[in-house]
Amino acid sequence: MAIPPIIEAPDPRLKQIAQSVEKVDAELARLMDDMLETMYKAPGIGLAAPQIGVAKRVIVVDLANEEEDEPRRPLRMANPEILWASETTRVHNEGCLSLPEQFADVERPTKIKVRYLDHENQVREMEAEDLLATVIQHEMDHLEGVLFVDRVSKLKRGILMRRLLKARKGKAAPDAQAWS
Ligand code: NI
Repeated sequence: MAIPPIIEAPDPRLKQIAQSVEKVDAELARLMDDMLETMYKAPGIGLAAPQIGVAKRVIVVDLANEEEDEPRRPLRMANPEILWASETTRVHNEGCLSLPEQFADVERPTKIKVRYLDHENQVREMEAEDLLATVIQHEMDHLEGVLFVDRVSKLKRGILMRRLLKARKGKAAPDAQAWS
């Protein structure tokens, strides 16, 4: 199976609202594995299905990808929903595989409780905090068509998008206005 390529901003497919999945069957479990392959190769620590052009509510996360020698501990989540979020927040300098080499500080709840369907269609609940909570929330944003640049000031967003397009100069230049 070919490793699906990552869609980069600004692409309208990243702005779509993803559809819930009915159940995690063999085909969907395969999609999760394909997403993990794409994420590990990038390398990244999280990926949402819309980033490979699939408008389904599926995300994968593996913080172990930060350190090459750490054993992998992939999380595969379908229909993730946040049941609870802490009032305390943390700021993380976020990046995104769909916005290569762009980073910005984003503030999100430090701790969350999330419910999801795993790769065997089992309902699971888990608590996450710190970086793991940040990444899960970042990936869940993708399911709503929201990128981390949508969570910073318009000024900062403009700077990041111009930088992204400039870095890509030579390829077809998409319309940066898509972001405003
Ligand atoms: Ni992202």
